[in-house]
Amino acid sequence: MNISTTTNDPWRCAADMQVYFVHDSLQTRLPEAVLSKIEKVRQAGDFPGRQEGTLSFYPESEQGCAASRVLVIGLGKGDLNGEAFRGAGGRIAQNVKKIKAAKIVVALPEELECPAQEMNQYIVEGLVLGNYQFSKYKTVEEDDEPHNLISELIIATTVQGGIVAMKRGLVSAESVCLARDMANEPGNHWTAEDFAGYARKLAAEFDMPCKILGKSELRQLKMGGLLGVNQGTIAPPRLIMLEYRTGRQVPTLMLVGKGLTFDSGGISLKPSAGMQDMKYDMCGGAAVLAVMAALGRERPDNVDVVAVVPATDNMPGPGALKPGDIIRQYSGKTVEIISTDAEGRLILADALSYGIKRFKPEMVIDLATLTGAVIVGLGHHMTGLMSNDDDLAQRLCRAGEQSAEPVWRLPLGKEYSKQLKSLTADLKNVGDKGAGTITAGAFLQEFISDTKWAHLDIAGTAWNFTEKSYVPPKGPSGVGVRLLLELIREWQA
Ligand code: BES
Ligand code: ZN
Ligand code: ZN
Repeated sequence: MNISTTTNDPWRCAADMQVYFVHDSLQTRLPEAVLSKIEKVRQAGDFPGRQEGTLSFYPESEQGCAASRVLVIGLGKGDLNGEAFRGAGGRIAQNVKKIKAAKIVVALPEELECPAQEMNQYIVEGLVLGNYQFSKYKTVEEDDEPHNLISELIIATTVQGGIVAMKRGLVSAESVCLARDMANEPGNHWTAEDFAGYARKLAAEFDMPCKILGKSELRQLKMGGLLGVNQGTIAPPRLIMLEYRTGRQVPTLMLVGKGLTFDSGGISLKPSAGMQDMKYDMCGGAAVLAVMAALGRERPDNVDVVAVVPATDNMPGPGALKPGDIIRQYSGKTVEIISTDAEGRLILADALSYGIKRFKPEMVIDLATLTGAVIVGLGHHMTGLMSNDDDLAQRLCRAGEQSAEPVWRLPLGKEYSKQLKSLTADLKNVGDKGAGTITAGAFLQEFISDTKWAHLDIAGTAWNFTEKSYVPPKGPSGVGVRLLLELIREWQA
C-alpha cells in the first residue's frame, strides 16, 4: 500500500473513495454534502455516529466532490482511544473489499480529544491490517468473494508530525501481515527449512547476523528435545537464530518462538477433526521473525534483540518418540514422554537453555501455541502470561493494553512444578491433576535457571482471535507482533 499525506481540502482530492468520520457528540468539520446526508439519516431516526455505523453514498456531480464514492465512519460516543481508530481503519478496509475502490482519501478529524499522533498511527495500522488478504494459492477468482484491496492511501490531515506516527502504524501492521503470511502457508510449503530460509532472507535484507543449526549440529550439541520431536518425520529440523544489534551498551532481549510447522500429535495422534489448523502451530516462531523484520526497518537503539526459533513438524513416522520414552534435553535434564503431543515444550526447552547460554540475555520472552487448556481458561480474547519477574510481567500487561493484544497473568509455583515429577526421569512432559497451561509454563521454567523470563501461551489468540474489524475472522491473527513491538518501542531501563 502506497501511503501519502495532503493538507489540501479532502473534498477536492481525486480518488475512488473519500472517507470521513463522525462522532455522536463531538463536532467534526465535514463538507456540506456530507453533513446534509448525515442530517437526513438523523431525521430518519438512525445514528450514523454510533460505533458500528457507516454511511456510504455516491455524490452528485454538482456537489463538486472529486471522488465517485463517499464513506462516513461512525466513531461512537464517549472517549476515543487508539483502539477506536484501529477499529475504524479496519472497517474502512472491510468496506473497500466489497467495492471497486483502490485509491482512497481519508480525512482525519481535527477537533477530537484523542492525541493526533495516535490517531494517525492507529488509523493506518487498522487500515493496513484490515486490508490483509492471503490469496497466493487461489487460481480462480470467485464472484461471490470480491476482494478489492486498497493500493493507494492518501491521508488528509494538518497535524504536525503525523508522518512519523503513520510510519509506526505501517511498520507494525505490515510486520503482522508477514507473520500472517508465514502462518497461512500450508505445512507442505512451510517446513523447518523454509522457516530458516525466511530468516536468512531477513538477515540479508536488514544486515543481521543469522545462524542456522541443522541436524548434525543439533546432534553434536545433544539437543534431545528438538531431535526427539523430529524423530517421527522425514523433514529435517532447524534451530534458527537471528540477531538485531544496536552496537550500544544496552540490554539484550531474547525472543523464542515455537516453530512447529505441523502438529499431528505424533504417536499420541490428535483427532482428525480440525487437525488442518495445526499448521498454525508455528505462529509463535512467525511472530518472533516478524518482530525482527519490524526492528530491521525501525532500528530502535534502546535494546538488542535476539530471536531463537526451534523448527520441526511433529509426525508419527516409524522412528517417532513413544509415550514412555525418556529423552535428554540440551540442558542435561531427562524427560519422560507421557504424551508425544506435548511436543512444544520439548523443543522450546532446548531453544531456551541453549539461547540463554549462547546469548546471555538480560531477559527472555517465549511465544508459543502451547496448550489447548489456555483456550478453556481465557478463550480467544487473551493470551496467557506466566513469568518469574513482576516487572517484565507488568510491562507485558501494559504493552498488551496499548496494542490491544491483551495478556492475562497466571501463577507459577512449586505446587505446579511438583505436578511434573516423574518416577523414572527428572521430569515428565505432562503434569497431572489439571492446570495444563501452568504446568506447561512450569516445565519451561525448568530450563531458564534464574533468567528474567516470561512465557506467552498464544494457543487461543493466534487464530480465531476475538472478533475485530482488523483481524481476519478465520485464519491467523499475527498476535504477538504488535504486543512485542510495543514492549520494545517503550522499553526503558
Ligand atoms: N499445539 C498444541 C496446543 C494447541 C491446541 C494449540 C489447540 C492450539 C489449539 C500442543 O502441542 C498440544 O498438543 N498440547 C497438548 C498438551 C497436552 C498433551 C498436555 C494439549 O493442549 O492438548
Ligand atoms: Zn502437540
Ligand atoms: Zn503443538
